[in-house]
Amino acid sequence: MSPHPNNLLDYYASVRASGLHARGQLATNHLLKLLAAKAGEVLLELETGTGTTLVQTQVMYPQSVLHGLEVSPAMHQATEKRLKACGIRSIPLHRSFQALPEHFFDVVYCESVLAIQEGDDLDKLVQQIKRVLKPGGRLVMNETIWLDATSWSDIRSINEQGKRSFGIIQANDKHPYVRDWVALMQQHGFSSQAVLKVDELPYLATANRWRMVLLKSKSFTLVGKLKQRYVNSYRRQQSEFENAIQQLNTPSGKTMEGVLFVFKCCD
Ligand SMILES: C[S@@+](CC[C@H](N)C(=O)[O-])C[C@H]1O[C@@H](n2cnc3c(N)ncnc32)[C@H](O)[C@@H]1O
Repeated sequence: MSPHPNNLLDYYASVRASGLHARGQLATNHLLKLLAAKAGEVLLELETGTGTTLVQTQVMYPQSVLHGLEVSPAMHQATEKRLKACGIRSIPLHRSFQALPEHFFDVVYCESVLAIQEGDDLDKLVQQIKRVLKPGGRLVMNETIWLDATSWSDIRSINEQGKRSFGIIQANDKHPYVRDWVALMQQHGFSSQAVLKVDELPYLATANRWRMVLLKSKSFTLVGKLKQRYVNSYRRQQSEFENAIQQLNTPSGKTMEGVLFVFKCCD
């Protein structure tokens, strides 16, 4: 797993963007509930982005021990700044998997991280997750993956275009569909506990939304939004990315969907 310099995600880091995954806050609320972390359990958020969910996890599960990992220097720095702005000093933030001990975590969770790994990088990342999870540990993730109706040739061309325009693929093409994801995880010894389409999730309120620490996190995000809106260079870059994203749309319309998976490790 390696960061990609000068891509869309570096831009999002610079504007402190939140919820870079299917159905944003609503899906995060469901993911947080699915973590079902008990007191004393050790959790790892994989690829924290700018750290919005990390802060929410800390608020929802104060009795658990939370760690974060972010490989991109720009995103890592954004998470550090958010934690500082929120007055949180207790969360170790790692830069790579290598330093993490084996069978250490009860839960690993992520949002829009595994699916954007290219080719065999996805298998390697699943191996790393398995290495750091305790036996019986859980992996909870919200990943945007290809619809069964999306053809292989559309997948290839959309990924090539995305890579060219903003440095990342839309979703792995070696394991394209939901059934392939479940099969991949089973090959690595995980068992599937839940598969939920995020477009079908009901409303779920954000827990503890008026807590001061969450308001501080929102203010941190707001500063980035203002920058995006009022600083010319950021506004220009945003519209370039928006145009590039729009061009990924195929005539057949929707090609992907967000899926919340819960897996148990490992046979
Ligand atoms: C779409 S963002 C999601 C960020 C955050 N989880 C969220 O939902 O807002 C993907 C995250 O994965 C990280 N990442 C790790 N490996 C990556 C790769 N090969 N390509 C792109 N991003 C990668 C990025 O740094 C970024 O934080």
